[in-house]
Amino acid sequence: MNPAPQIVTTVAELHHRIAAYRQDDARVGLVPTMGALHAGHLSLVTETQNRADVVIVSIFVNPAQFAPHEDFERYPRALMADAEKLGLDGETDLIFAPSVGEMYPPGFSTCVEVGGPSRGLETDIRPHFFSGVAIVVLKLLLAAMPDVATFGEKDYQQLLVIRRMVADLGLNIEIVGAPIIREPDGLAMSSRNAYLSHDERRIAGQMNVVLKGLIAELRDGKTITAVEETGKRALLQAGFSSVDYLAVRNAEDLSPLASLDRPARVLAAATVGTTRLIDNMAV
Ligand code: PAF
Repeated sequence: MNPAPQIVTTVAELHHRIAAYRQDDARVGLVPTMGALHAGHLSLVTETQNRADVVIVSIFVNPAQFAPHEDFERYPRALMADAEKLGLDGETDLIFAPSVGEMYPPGFSTCVEVGGPSRGLETDIRPHFFSGVAIVVLKLLLAAMPDVATFGEKDYQQLLVIRRMVADLGLNIEIVGAPIIREPDGLAMSSRNAYLSHDERRIAGQMNVVLKGLIAELRDGKTITAVEETGKRALLQAGFSSVDYLAVRNAEDLSPLASLDRPARVLAAATVGTTRLIDNMAV
């Protein structure tokens, strides 16, 4: 068994370790996470290891991306268990697990607003979310200056926002999007699935079934508007208590589509019990 990777908690230590990797001409990869790692995260590590000599996993539950009424306090935190999992997996070289004070020292006042793909969908419901993600991801990228950084397609809009930011700021970092990893019933893996009761878990497993059904209907020639309406109804009938959005969008920039004349993505966010779940699929 591999030992658990070492954990560094300050940007200064991280710089020191990265300088040593760079001396050996290593290509550095970063996997930003909020911890509570599952097989989806481990797949990001594997994607990164295929493209880099050294893999750093950051674990930081970022307060800036949670609104006051959201689940920052109850978000699962399991640093030692995460380190053990990464050790067993054997593909991670270093864990960066900073404190909130390390990332946001007193007086911190900078924010990053990304336009383009951040408009609509998640932003309609969580207006604070992408500025919180953008500032932390930018800080992590600047701290590690990796050659490659990997994000899951599960958070598809987030992936496009990060790609936009990295391109707009001219950062020389390859942003890799890794496919969604699913449970046997198709539920997209997420740290928040841990919140689900037995009954809610069964309902949650219907989201991907609904999305697949909609894609089949689109292929049969149903209009986007009709499919979006059917999809919302189907999620409510499956037992979701509310649907924030179910939308078929341009896969490249998430702009609305009048017809399926280019690659598209169907994206959904809905709540079961007190847990908000998101999923998406290529059409
Ligand atoms: O997707 C996540 O886990 C987070 O939003 C990220 C990218 C690690 C930023 O906190």
